[in-house]
Amino acid sequence: MFSASDGLHIAHVSQDISRSSTNSRPEGRRTRIFVIFVVGMAGSGKSLLVASFSEFLRSTEQNVMILNLDPGATVLPYNPDVDVRAYVDIDELMEKYKLGPNGALIMASDIAADHLEEMRGELEAEGPDFVLADTPGQIELFAFRESGPYFSNAISEESKAVLYTLDAPFCRNPMNFVSNLFLAAAVYARLRQPQIYALTKTDLVSDEELDRVVEWAGEIEQLENALEATPGDTGSLIARDLAVAVHSTGLVFETIPVSAKSNAGLLELNASLTRALTGGEELRP
Ligand code: GTP
Repeated sequence: MFSASDGLHIAHVSQDISRSSTNSRPEGRRTRIFVIFVVGMAGSGKSLLVASFSEFLRSTEQNVMILNLDPGATVLPYNPDVDVRAYVDIDELMEKYKLGPNGALIMASDIAADHLEEMRGELEAEGPDFVLADTPGQIELFAFRESGPYFSNAISEESKAVLYTLDAPFCRNPMNFVSNLFLAAAVYARLRQPQIYALTKTDLVSDEELDRVVEWAGEIEQLENALEATPGDTGSLIARDLAVAVHSTGLVFETIPVSAKSNAGLLELNASLTRALTGGEELRP
């Protein structure tokens, strides 16, 4: 299907995806599956959170499956129940189409969307209470290309949510925090699913630093003050304008501090996701 030698492969793939996204789904039994897409900047702690949160949920006797959607993942801290790498091989794409790693990842993400029915079939065969879906570190692959929003809409007819991971050590700097807010808002605009914010790696920051970031997320004035106090150039002024612009959208960035190392905050995360997915019901069939 993909004759990629002329560099037009990605457009071809996108067209294929567009066609498949308008197709009606095959008739058949549909199982209720809640899906949580874990999205965030590279290295923000998505995979380790998927590992620790899935363990936590299993310990409370919830039936969880893990879906790995990162075709470029090499080592993962969990055993995926359904794995995009079973459907698409980055190394093969690089070799066959003479692509670099990024081109191959883009192509792989688009090809993965063509295998949505098979992956959904694997999930439905098990019928979990819900699915934790780990997404690529290159956030644009899942959130901003055509395949990601298609995938997130079509993988389940039931409730879905995005768990956006904010790296706490990275977010200590208010400029970094604003960049992350902007990205998070852009992800919401593309995926349009309820979005929950986990402030990750809290074991690596002090309580004071943590309180400050949580405050910035809730109160724009505090964030503006922090940016104004940032020494330097016009960068912080631009960041302030960006923060105000994001705030004016009305999006709420309440964050839940968590650590995948100590398991701190996982109870609160569960409660928040439960509310987002079910309006307060237990996450059980
Ligand atoms: P990509 O898929 O490459 O974008 O990474 P990711 O977002 O899945 O992050 P990952 O879970 O691989 O974590 C990145 C690094 O941070 C790893 O070295 C983890 O061990 C570390 N890490 C993740 N969560 C925590 C945490 O809660 N505490 C500490 N101390 N380290 C963490």
